[in-house]
This record gives sequence, C-alpha cells and structure tokens, in this order.
Amino acid sequence: MSQAHYFSQDVPPLEPSELRPVDFRVLGHAGVQLVGAAGVFSHGKLDLGTKVLLRTLARLGPSYGLPAEPGALLLDLGCGWGPLALTMAALRPTARVVAVDTNPRALALTKLNAANLGLDNVEVAAPADATALTGIVRLWSNPPIRIGKAALHELLTTWLDRLAPGGAAELVVGRNLGADPLAQWLGSPGGGARGVTRRGSAKGYRVLSVTPS
Ligand SMILES: C[S@@+](CC[C@H](N)C(=O)[O-])C[C@H]1O[C@@H](n2cnc3c(N)ncnc32)[C@H](O)[C@@H]1O
Repeated sequence: MSQAHYFSQDVPPLEPSELRPVDFRVLGHAGVQLVGAAGVFSHGKLDLGTKVLLRTLARLGPSYGLPAEPGALLLDLGCGWGPLALTMAALRPTARVVAVDTNPRALALTKLNAANLGLDNVEVAAPADATALTGIVRLWSNPPIRIGKAALHELLTTWLDRLAPGGAAELVVGRNLGADPLAQWLGSPGGGARGVTRRGSAKGYRVLSVTPS
C-alpha cells in the first residue's frame, strides 16, 4: 500500500473535480454526502480502525464520553477527511473542535465536510499552526503509525503533553502495528508514565485510553 499520504505536505490544492464520495454518515444520519480525494488516508470509506474506535466510544454513552462544557477543546490528531472531528463536532456542537493534519488536502476536506454538515465549531490546522493548543479535554486519534516508532513517540508525546488535567486521549492502533508495545511505552517513564487503559479490542485493533501522569 502506498504511504504517500503520510508525506504529502507538497501536494497541490484540491480541485472540485477531484472530490469523491465517502461511504460514511456522521452518527448514521443520512442526507449529507461527505467527500474524500486521492492522496488522503482511506479516502473512499471509513477506515476499519477508525470504525472500531467510534464503536468503542459509542459504548460510553450517547455523547461518546465527550464532556458537556461549552468551549471544551476537543482535538482530532491526524484528521484525514475528518470522520473523528466531524463526529466530535456533531456530538458536542458547543465544543471547540480542532482537526490537525500535515496533509493540506486532508485539512481542506475536513473543512469542506464540516461546512456541508453545518458544523461551524470545527477548525482545521497544520501542526505548526497548532502549537499554542493546550488544555485539550479529549483527543481522538487513529495515529499515523507508519511514520515510524521514533516519530510516532515524538508526535504522541507532543500532543499528550497538551492534555488538560483530567483530560484523556482515545487512540486506536492495530495489534500488528504495535498497539501493545505502544501501550507499555506510554505507561513507562520514557513515555511519560501516563495512565493507559485498554478500552476495547476488536478486528485486530486496540482502543487505548490515555490520561496524563
Ligand atoms: C491513520 S490516518 C487517520 C486519518 C483519519 N483520522 C481517519 O480516521 O480516516 C493518520 C493521519 O495522520 C496524518 N499525519 C501524519 N503525520 C502527522 C503529524 N505529524 N501530525 C498530524 N497528522 C499527521 C496523516 O496525514 C493521516 O491523515
């Protein structure tokens, strides 16, 4: 499988003719056709790992464990075309949802999908433009495992250190992509001695809930 979408900072901007339908409805609601485009992760359908994450979080209750405070900062790390950010924004319309990705096409698609859904509480940002974001109350991510262990550790350390006290991150990681060693590392002193709980396990994926140390 090509991994070009992980390293696509230099891709050209999206043309309307490039938009392709995505087979996903936010919270199952019919009506709005979401879009993806070549060069963006799983651009035609919801990725299986992301599906496992959403199904696991749905078991936490109708708000998927998202806090109700207006203005709460919710973050989608590595948003792709936006399934996690859009779901957060639909569940909590008064929250501030920020979707971060290195891929400008991903950011453009998330912005477009949010606008088409009428979700005006979604912002998109490149990582370099999001360094001031702290006090994140919930972070959801299907993280870019294939960037390599060292880069992934650096990425997760950067963002998990921005969680609010009492905040949490919900991560989905393939078992064969190192979910268990990653969980162990996150709980170790080198990984920040964070609280790590396995929330669920399905279809070859683990859902890890991570809290500040
Ligand atoms: C496994 S995909 C998940 C995409 C989307 N959340 C989904 O579920 O379909 C990981 C995403 O992380 C992005 N990414 C890679 N490196 C990143 C970085 N350093 N910071 C933020 N996002 C990054 C990739 O461009 C990709 O869109």
